[in-house]
Amino acid sequence: MDLYEFQAKELFAKHGVPTQAGEVVRTPSHAHEAAERIGGMVVVKAQVKTGGRGKAGGVKLAKDANEARDRAHDILGLDIKGHIVHQVLVTPAADIAEEYYVSFLLDRANRSWLAMASKEGGMEIEQLAVERPEALAKVPVDAIVGVDQAKAEEIADAAGFDVSVRYQVVEILKKLWDVFVKEDATLVEVNPLVKTPTGEVLALDGKVSLDGNAEFRHPDHDVLVDQSAEDPLELRAKEKDLNYVKLSGSVGIIGNGAGLVMSTLDVVAYAGEEFGGQKPANFLDIGGGASAQVMADGLEIILSDPDVRSVFVNVFGGITACDAVANGIVQALALLEEKGEAVTKPLVVRLDGNNAELGRQILRDAGNPLVELVDTMDDAARRVAQLAAQGA
Ligand SMILES: Nc1ncnc2c1ncn2[C@@H]1O[C@H](COP(=O)(O)OP(=O)(O)OP(=O)(O)O)[C@@H](O)[C@H]1O
Ligand SMILES: [Mg+2]
Repeated sequence: MDLYEFQAKELFAKHGVPTQAGEVVRTPSHAHEAAERIGGMVVVKAQVKTGGRGKAGGVKLAKDANEARDRAHDILGLDIKGHIVHQVLVTPAADIAEEYYVSFLLDRANRSWLAMASKEGGMEIEQLAVERPEALAKVPVDAIVGVDQAKAEEIADAAGFDVSVRYQVVEILKKLWDVFVKEDATLVEVNPLVKTPTGEVLALDGKVSLDGNAEFRHPDHDVLVDQSAEDPLELRAKEKDLNYVKLSGSVGIIGNGAGLVMSTLDVVAYAGEEFGGQKPANFLDIGGGASAQVMADGLEIILSDPDVRSVFVNVFGGITACDAVANGIVQALALLEEKGEAVTKPLVVRLDGNNAELGRQILRDAGNPLVELVDTMDDAARRVAQLAAQGA
């Protein structure tokens, strides 16, 4: 889960990283009040979960409260890379002598953590990495050792920080590492970390991504979830404990086992090329013990997705045999009908593995005209893509 800048800064403050407080507001008049409370020059900053806000006109200086209200008026409602600005952060304007960059992230290629740091922050770091890679220090961090005094000094020195800020940067790196580990983040980035004319170093921006798999360890993170920024189908799936991810295509997918579902996405995308580029509409793994209720919950979510035009149920019977899954499908369709959500989109079902034939017989006996049985995964993928194209 990506956090907003103001949330990232709250975590920074919690772990002792110097940053600036501010107020988050949703209207120009509240921006006026916030700026009055802060006093003096302020910066009004769009709070959206995407980068490049400054360039898009989402970060503006205001010399007093009236200007803050006007700038908030300009920024609220802006579309920044598809994200509409609903709230702005009003924060004291800092005098900036120098801008730096520091981050910790997961380096999948090297299976380790990575620290990055540069004396040339402020600009887009991706651009710096391409144009002047020597200006961006990259230091691997051992997950067991973490960022201790020696590692923090190594990072600061690799980036070539001046002796006048080295001590502060080292302390900040250690504290940002605390944010990274103690909050279970996969990314902690500060761009810019600034030096003020009086020589003080502080974080003026913050980007934090939290590891969803560690959510259970952080009940305090619940408040960070912004329901309005989440996909509504994913929210509903989460309430029902389903492993569901919304994708952009037209073929709904249900399978048992993450590996099978992943390969189902691949075969459907491949087969879909022949039918005008039909693609999977979602990932949904209903897991091992796929009961009728779980099947019904899954089908309900997929069928309520307006992008879905056909559904592929791809099940390999294991401990839960295919006859149980077939009964689950039949009961799920009945459950949905009872709820007045009768299925109107075609379902292609492929059953294989334990008791496959019995499962197919159950579906044939049920005789639902929208349910088609196809024996192999490839054929089923072609058929479901074809149906999606016809439903377009
Ligand atoms: N409180 C502040 N006082 C003075 N200048 C600021 C302040 N906050 C930001 N700035 C200036 O605005 C620039 C852009 O701000 P910031 O880094 O927060 O947004 P961004 O880089 O455009 O967005 P993102 O980091 O999402 O790409 C900073 O590099 C800094 O020069
Ligand atoms: Mg920035």
